[in-house]
Amino acid sequence: MIKSSALAAIWAGSLATAAPGKPEGFERQPWRRLATAGCGKTHHAGYNNDTATHSIISGGLNRTYGVNVPNDYNNDPNKARALIIDYHGSGGNGWQQYDNSQYYNYPAGAEYIAVYPGHWQGPNYAPPGVSDLNFTTDLLDHIQEQYCVNTSLVYASGKSNGAGFVDTLACSDHGDRFAAFAMASAALYTDTSRDSCTKKRAILESHGDKDTTIPYHPTEPGRGGPLPDITQWVSWWGYRDCGSGAKAQYSGDLGGYNTTIYTCGNLNQVVNHYQIFDLGHCWPSSTGKNFDGSRSYCNDKSVDFTPVVLSFFSKWTIENSPKN
Ligand SMILES: *[C@@H]1O[C@H](CO)[C@@H](O)[C@H](O)[C@H]1NC(C)=O
Ligand SMILES: *[C@@H]1O[C@H](CO)[C@@H](O)[C@H](O)[C@H]1NC(C)=O
Ligand SMILES: *[C@@H]1O[C@H](CO)[C@@H](O)[C@H](O)[C@H]1NC(C)=O
Ligand SMILES: *[C@@H]1O[C@H](CO)[C@@H](O)[C@H](O)[C@H]1NC(C)=O
Ligand SMILES: *[C@@H]1O[C@H](CO)[C@@H](O)[C@H](O)[C@H]1NC(C)=O
Repeated sequence: MIKSSALAAIWAGSLATAAPGKPEGFERQPWRRLATAGCGKTHHAGYNNDTATHSIISGGLNRTYGVNVPNDYNNDPNKARALIIDYHGSGGNGWQQYDNSQYYNYPAGAEYIAVYPGHWQGPNYAPPGVSDLNFTTDLLDHIQEQYCVNTSLVYASGKSNGAGFVDTLACSDHGDRFAAFAMASAALYTDTSRDSCTKKRAILESHGDKDTTIPYHPTEPGRGGPLPDITQWVSWWGYRDCGSGAKAQYSGDLGGYNTTIYTCGNLNQVVNHYQIFDLGHCWPSSTGKNFDGSRSYCNDKSVDFTPVVLSFFSKWTIENSPKN
């Protein structure tokens, strides 16, 4: 751990001037620096949809992404911001996920830098030889070079295949730089047994009981391979975070949905699952005015998931989130 006095020194000066007095672990774990090399650089506010101008080479491939920059960003480009990397579903694009989660439409969400990358691995239809875990790490390095990021406050979210990748990330060392993980209708092709993942993480997921793309209780393999039963998968995360004595708290019917929550020790509501009774394969919205809202199977409005995600993220930092 970096001592707080050392952190203050890093924050007070630029990273370059802080280097001579650099604390132990500074080079080994550069993301422990709380504010990043991108501090001081200005950016266009709002959503920068032009993927052609946002790209990095990772694994020899040219990868693109979009960014939503807080409206007041340039008022203080040295203010370290929280960051969400938000992954779209299979066959979709970054703009669709921007319009699904709509973080920018919620006061707390508009404070984040939100990044919307292109395509990732997981199901067996993913392109071979591409590491989207490597891409995520490269992307995070790059974003921290370009933007002022509070490295304590980095999160991942996604829908469907993008949500499945968020789980893949959570189960990987590449996920160590993220404080919490949120998923909607996760396509969990890479997480099909309790012991296939040994990480402890703060996990939020919502899943429609009427999902026919990634069924809540699958009876046959999905398009990308075998899938877990969602009830079981939630219990696996309870076990991973809280051990074999893990006990779920069940909410009962909360009005069209119910929740399953695990809490242990200091890890309050560390696993948080929403089962939505009449929803299909959707990012849940209470207004229906998001990208998925036009789909016939997304009519159920009992949960507005984005504020649930923002509230979940607000409780977790790199320091207090579960780790092993
Ligand atoms: C962003 O790009 C998508 C296509 O990739 C387009 O459909 C959408 O209208 C654009 N949105 C904005 C806000 O420019
Ligand atoms: C990556 O692709 C984008 C969009 O096609 C392009 O604008 C950019 O120049 C490419 N970058 C490199 C290094 O080839
Ligand atoms: C990063 O966020 C943490 C938790 O909210 C806060 O204590 C810290 O001061 C922030 N760091 C910077 C550099 O703003
Ligand atoms: C991912 O990165 C690691 C470490 O740099 C490297 O060994 C590995 O080959 C990369 N994987 C792919 C598929 O590029
Ligand atoms: C949550 O709701 C679903 C759908 O009605 C039901 O099958 C499940 O048993 C409920 N779970 C709990 C713990 O009440």
